[in-house]
Amino acid sequence: MDAFRIIGGNKLQGTVTISGAKNAALPIMVATLLTSGKSVLRNVPNLRDVATMSKMLRLLGAQVTFEKNVLTVDTSKVNKWEAPYELVKTMRASVYVLGPLLARFGQARVSLPGGCAWGPRPVDLHIKGMQKLGAEVDVEHGYIVARAKRLKGAHIYFDISSVGATGNIMMAATLARGTTRIENAAREPDIVALAFFLRKMGARIEGEGTDTIEIEGVDNLSPQEEEIIPDRIEAGTFMGAAAITGGEVILENCIPEHVNAFTEKLRESGVQIEEGENSMRVKTSRGLQPVHVTTAPYPGFPTDLQAQMMSLLSIAEGTSVITETIFTDRFNHAPELQRLGADITVDENVAVITGVEKLSGAPVMATDIRASAALVLAGLVAEGETTISRVYHIDRGYERIEEKLSSLGANIERMREA
Ligand code: EPZ
Repeated sequence: MDAFRIIGGNKLQGTVTISGAKNAALPIMVATLLTSGKSVLRNVPNLRDVATMSKMLRLLGAQVTFEKNVLTVDTSKVNKWEAPYELVKTMRASVYVLGPLLARFGQARVSLPGGCAWGPRPVDLHIKGMQKLGAEVDVEHGYIVARAKRLKGAHIYFDISSVGATGNIMMAATLARGTTRIENAAREPDIVALAFFLRKMGARIEGEGTDTIEIEGVDNLSPQEEEIIPDRIEAGTFMGAAAITGGEVILENCIPEHVNAFTEKLRESGVQIEEGENSMRVKTSRGLQPVHVTTAPYPGFPTDLQAQMMSLLSIAEGTSVITETIFTDRFNHAPELQRLGADITVDENVAVITGVEKLSGAPVMATDIRASAALVLAGLVAEGETTISRVYHIDRGYERIEEKLSSLGANIERMREA
């Protein structure tokens, strides 16, 4: 397993290009299952999760090629409908295949991700949504087993905003008979991008980006070409890297509006941010000020930037509070940041961060995609050497992060561990 070695202290300077959005690319890759033929997706980021999803599609019988960020999916020979445990356990987003397989083939057997249907990181909203659309769904031996002659439109209310469940139901509903109305739908740009792609395929969808989405089922869809939107979470991560090192960085190929909540919090903390059409200039000239953060569904402060914000606030000039409202257990990065000298106390879903003069480098361990990004940010400013093990977590969601950071002046290298 590879590791990163970082020597902290360099102020980042220069320009970085943001890659395509992982969380838009993954559902759009799966949406190609709704039709037979060859779709072409551009600006697809070269990530472990994209490779895993490509493997998933090949397992179902699709032909997938990926070359220089262009991904082609030919679904004309799809003849299986099972998403096996060994794949789903490595990437929860595999559960996206449930809706399209049910809609196109009337059957699907999809492993539960880690936990159970109703346990930590549940998929109960996906299951209830498919049942509402008329599918028979059982959960047996760790698998979701679903069948439906033809899905029929329904009125679905999600009692919590779920990106995955919204995307899954929206895809299934495109081929259902009649109209589906999703209330309390997720508003994330990834969902808007998925709706745009489905509409290009011939789906009839209205309301994406609001909390009510209406889908009029059609009989079939057609393969399409699409350009994946920039990754707002990668953009936020690089904004954080500029801010924590006291540097000046220009982000290119990003959509400032998609990171509004994060930008406002950074400005509140004293970071100067200029927004262009599809670029951002981030500059810090003095110490970061403490702020209070509460994560929320889009357009609120993104949970996927919570860990990175904790790293920044660990060297702010005062005490900050972070409240995580989306996931119950998303502070795994806190004990690792404490090893770097951060002063953080966690009580259930609230973390109190008392800024310290400086962090000091140490060996730490990555635990998930965004926690590992937070450790990289902390390593960039910690005194001395920080080594981060298990960076396969970061490779799941960031394209060549160490090369991009090095090009901005960071002292970071990848150590290939045996
Ligand atoms: C998506 O995950 C993202 N992943 C996550 O990003 C992101 O953190 C999350 O949305 C929230 O924004 C992808 O898009 C591939 P949810 P998802 O369903 O869809 C609960 C990253 O780092 N819930 O919006 O799995 C759930 O437990 C990843 O790129 C149910 O209770 O998240 C959570 O508390 C990490 N039942 C809340 O809803 C369900 O059936 C939001 O989860 C589904 C979810």
